Amino acid sequence: MSALGALSAAAPEAPPMVPRRFRVASTRRDNHDTLTVQLEPCEGGPLAFAAGQFTMLQVFGVGEVPISISGDPRGSGPLQHTIRDVGSVSHALAFAAPGQVLGVRGPYGTGWEVADGKGGDVVLVAGGIGLAPLRPALLEICAERDDYERVSLLYGARTPSDVLFADDLRSWAEDHRITVEVIVDRGEAGWTGRIGLVTQLIGKVAFGADQRLALVCGPEVMMRHSAVALVARGVEPQRVRLSMERNMKCGVGLCGHCQLRELFLCLDGPVLPFDRLEPLMSRAEL
Ligand SMILES: Cc1cc2nc3c(=O)[nH]c(=O)nc-3n(C[C@H](O)[C@H](O)[C@H](O)COP(=O)(O)OP(=O)(O)OC[C@H]3O[C@@H](n4cnc5c(N)ncnc54)[C@H](O)[C@@H]3O)c2cc1C
Ligand code: FES
Repeated sequence: MSALGALSAAAPEAPPMVPRRFRVASTRRDNHDTLTVQLEPCEGGPLAFAAGQFTMLQVFGVGEVPISISGDPRGSGPLQHTIRDVGSVSHALAFAAPGQVLGVRGPYGTGWEVADGKGGDVVLVAGGIGLAPLRPALLEICAERDDYERVSLLYGARTPSDVLFADDLRSWAEDHRITVEVIVDRGEAGWTGRIGLVTQLIGKVAFGADQRLALVCGPEVMMRHSAVALVARGVEPQRVRLSMERNMKCGVGLCGHCQLRELFLCLDGPVLPFDRLEPLMSRAEL
């Protein structure tokens, strides 16, 4: 083989900072500030990912941000991201027009590894947009529902109009024997459901099996209180998993933006067990 041939045979995959090109296939509005964007690859096959992983999504000329994948990890359909419009990049992503080409790097990070909950009870606790990163785990459970015992989803939103994935919530409860409890911070006309904090629901979860797994995603303060309440209900701290959404720039362990003491959350996380996070979360300056 020529020197050139040997070089190209050993050529590495595309460098990690080079995005793949995906085209916006369609967009669904989930509520007043959140949209789900469905992407198709411009070339190559679908992106394989594990529930809980994120990608770095880029609008060319605007910027790049980390967003969790919210679709089905077992499906071959479009790549889905559910995006809350909070700033310049998330706005440009959420309102990208059908046909527009976006950059995708990843998938990156650790997953929920929900299969560890097989044979036992699983409780998922979501706050706000935190339901989006948990959706792939719920879809994975639904696909093999008989392998799990009791499954509960506790979901807290700011108001009834902020509730995401209403059709999914109904289907998970009615078609897949998942106990779905929704609670809002503030009610609105016509709301007859619960008002309060999602942590209040943890005391009401029915646990049957000895083996318990808890997956938590939402604002950091909500995750910390939820984890403490779950441990008090008998879930082992190493089986309480949280998704940590700190600032990220590179997603591949180069820039240090995501560092939490010895952890690089883009590599070691975002999903980590509470026994590793607890000493770091209780330190305000970290
Ligand atoms: C691993 C990971 C997964 C994520 N998954 C999702 C997701 O599925 N859907 C989604 O909508 N967002 C998700 N985010 C948050 C998303 O990356 C930020 O909202 C985005 O970077 C904001 O960029 P911007 O330019 O639109 O706004 P900016 O102008 O940068 O910020 C606007 C506002 O949002 C706040 N903000 C910025 N970054 C974050 C953050 N990471 N967490 C909380 N508040 C933030 C800022 O403090 C500011 O108040 C995730 C973040 C991480 C690290
Ligand atoms: S985001 Fe750059 S090191 Fe983690």
